[in-house]
Amino acid sequence: MDLASIDPLKAAVAAHLAQAQSALTHQYDLILSLLERPKNPDHGDYALPCFRLAKALASPPPKAAAFLADSFAADDPLLESTEAVGGFLNLTLRPEVVYSYVVPPLLSKEAFDRLSAEEGKERVMIEYSQPNTHKAFHVGHIRNVALGDALGRLYRYAGYPVVMANYFGDEGVHIAKCLWHLLRVKAQEPLEAKGAFLDEHYRAATKAIELASEDDKERFQAEISEILKGIEAKEGEAFLLWQKTREWSLADFRELYRYFDARFDHDFYESEVSEASQEIVDEYLAKGVFVLDQGAVGCDLKDDKLGFVILRKSDGNTLYATKDLALARVKFDEFQIDRSIYVVASEQNLHFKQVFRTLEKMGFDKASQCYHLSYGMVTLPEGKMSTRSGNTVSCAQLIQEVTAKLQDILAENLKDWSQAERDEACHHLAVGAIRFGMVATDPQKDVVFKLEDWTSFEGFSGPYLMYAYARSCSLLAKASATDFSAPDSPVVGEADERLLLRYLNDFNPTVLMALKTAKLSLLAHYLYDTCKVFNRFLAHHPVLKSEGATRATRLALVAATQALIEQGLSILGIKALERM
Ligand code: ARG
Repeated sequence: MDLASIDPLKAAVAAHLAQAQSALTHQYDLILSLLERPKNPDHGDYALPCFRLAKALASPPPKAAAFLADSFAADDPLLESTEAVGGFLNLTLRPEVVYSYVVPPLLSKEAFDRLSAEEGKERVMIEYSQPNTHKAFHVGHIRNVALGDALGRLYRYAGYPVVMANYFGDEGVHIAKCLWHLLRVKAQEPLEAKGAFLDEHYRAATKAIELASEDDKERFQAEISEILKGIEAKEGEAFLLWQKTREWSLADFRELYRYFDARFDHDFYESEVSEASQEIVDEYLAKGVFVLDQGAVGCDLKDDKLGFVILRKSDGNTLYATKDLALARVKFDEFQIDRSIYVVASEQNLHFKQVFRTLEKMGFDKASQCYHLSYGMVTLPEGKMSTRSGNTVSCAQLIQEVTAKLQDILAENLKDWSQAERDEACHHLAVGAIRFGMVATDPQKDVVFKLEDWTSFEGFSGPYLMYAYARSCSLLAKASATDFSAPDSPVVGEADERLLLRYLNDFNPTVLMALKTAKLSLLAHYLYDTCKVFNRFLAHHPVLKSEGATRATRLALVAATQALIEQGLSILGIKALERM
């Protein structure tokens, strides 16, 4: 992507520097790539490390920097001051010029079209959520939803055609186990909480098998394997029960997606691809790519240090990995995609390596366009939140806890609101708190769920960002004006204003970085920092009480920040509330 088109200010600085010395005329691209933001804002708006320019300037870096620093007159139109420090050239830009680059395009929202303006983007499929039916939707699944859905929004913001896909695990041993238990204890259909009911029976089944004698264990396994066959063959008593119960889980999942406003364009099901996966096994066994091993069929990946993947067990049933082979084909064949992203927890790193490598061995030419976006677990402060351990936290419990906490805060702050208004705000705040909490940490790392932090209006949290937005709205509402266009001659230059402008400028470069690295955490941190700088600006400088051009300048700055926060939150899937 063309950096100059998404960051015109930086491009202008690079062009200005390239023109400063004849020796640099052809170094524009290099200069543009070298320009960086000094960590300490007192060192200026940009720094140019001169190490790689020393040769062109025929002097050692410190001298090259000093030489460049002297090339600008005191009345330079773009640079207010320059300073050479070691091999670096520090640049302070004229704030009114920065303002004119930054504020108007945010107010007109033109800035938000820059990333998508480029043509010919690849078609991307993002597969996410993928819960297993007959099991509870737990906190790890919410992290997946928050990451996957926001990644889709990020791609869409950047102008990519995106297909958001789900892939429900509605087949497999875990379901056979659940059904086996339901049949065994002749369970009565519950009136409500049907999804949770299935999860209980799945767990009871696991327990029963664990505690069984060796003989019973064998018998149970055989019964479960028969059930699995029935589901795959789509016939018999177990199949009918499967059809009915599967809907219970799916209904629960869809309600959660509605709650989080997570969108899908297409739903895949494991049960849909099992037939095709059997065919793949036959086809590639015949071709000699897959081999027989003690009655089972698999693919030998030992040369790749990925072991032997079993693709059809000796009882004739296929496996999770087998279905992924079929799924990958369907995705590329039927959806004309160029790239396929799988958002799945890091526990499945090996699985995806095996699947992608097997696809390669099968000669599937799109295998190299398959990516596993792996992420860490969600833990409680006191330890792991696992489905198997006792201290499981389901999605419903998490929502309940967060909601109760926020209701308390709102009841205190918004006494004049009706309960319905508070409920509505509370819903969006809870979604904001959870979504932000789930993506704000680097995806590779585990997330620790801390209720107090996630719901705080003052810390690194979703509600904090939402609050900054609401603050900008109430301020602008009090301005009793509707037009916040940027004045032609802005009065700007306070340190807080300069810093805010720097953040406002860096929205698109940050989004681009988040996209390239698939780290929404970069965007989350950036938005938090922006809001912090914005709040500091508001704390130190009057807006409504200032006058004339200063007031107009600041109001436009507030309106620009407001537009930016709203856009940023929307990429994270968080609705910006005007009042809260
Ligand atoms: N349903 C699976 C699970 O819960 C995740 C599916 C991930 N996607 C895939 N194409 N394998 O473990």
